[in-house]
Amino acid sequence: MAFETISYEKVDGVGVLKINRPKALNALNEQVLKELDTQLDEIDTDRDLRALVITGAGEKAFVAGADIVAMSEMNSEQAAAFSKLGQSVFRRLEILRIPVIAAVNGFALGGGTELACSCDFIYASENAKFGQPEVLLGLMPGFGGTQRLARFVGLPRARELIYTGEQINVQQALEMGLVNKVFSKETLLDEALKTAKIISKRAPLAVTASKEAINDGFDVAIDKGLGFELDLFGELFDSQDVKEGTKAFTEKREPKFTGE
Ligand code: CAA
Repeated sequence: MAFETISYEKVDGVGVLKINRPKALNALNEQVLKELDTQLDEIDTDRDLRALVITGAGEKAFVAGADIVAMSEMNSEQAAAFSKLGQSVFRRLEILRIPVIAAVNGFALGGGTELACSCDFIYASENAKFGQPEVLLGLMPGFGGTQRLARFVGLPRARELIYTGEQINVQQALEMGLVNKVFSKETLLDEALKTAKIISKRAPLAVTASKEAINDGFDVAIDKGLGFELDLFGELFDSQDVKEGTKAFTEKREPKFTGE
């Protein structure tokens, strides 16, 4: 499907989803969010897809936030609907069957940090900048920032970032655990794709079950979380891939996983 504000391509089982509004530093308006939602329908049902990388078009930004021009015209009902749409798209991303890597190639402010935190983990370029500057605009994070940032950096750091609206550079983001790895601008996407390709070679059902156990177990009492893990661990043993992976180990050869 042709979109105006995003682009999508698939190479060797890995999808690359780009927010493509570089003139507005890839700010998220209703159209971007709706196009993302539609693209996620296809991604969700593509059984050959093993990992997804999300990045921003252009030199300067991953996503410079929710669209401030659009928000300047909104009443409270419209703002709540906008928040609901953004939250629902980002939640779909968070619980997608396959791992999602954010390749943050510049500004990731407000909705940009929120988008990155909806991914499984974040790689960033040396010029990346993160932050939740909503309070400078009289608003607050509305696409999950008050809930997800703390999962990456802990509550006290999330509070500080959200209450001050302070921007942080990539070194600070790395030190606080927001970002897993830093690369040059030129190599970021390739490095993210390299990791995505490694994931794409692993047993897909096992990767999906791991993601599910991590996500579902995060907020619950550990005994409940261990219960999720146990159930999924057991279920995996109905798959061909467990037989293939363990057999390949004993036969000292590379496994051929089929996702069955
Ligand atoms: N919304 C709409 N347009 C935006 C935008 C945004 N979030 N961020 C940048 N743009 C537009 C600018 O208006 C500008 O457009 P024009 O050329 O038509 O004037 C264009 O992108 C380029 O931006 P700048 O000229 O400002 O570029 P810069 O290099 O001088 O500054 C920047 C870059 C520091 C990122 C600056 O653009 C900026 O501060 N942007 C806003 C960041 C922000 O506050 N984000 C949070 C939004 S609120 C939010 O996200 C709420 C939520 O959780 C739901």
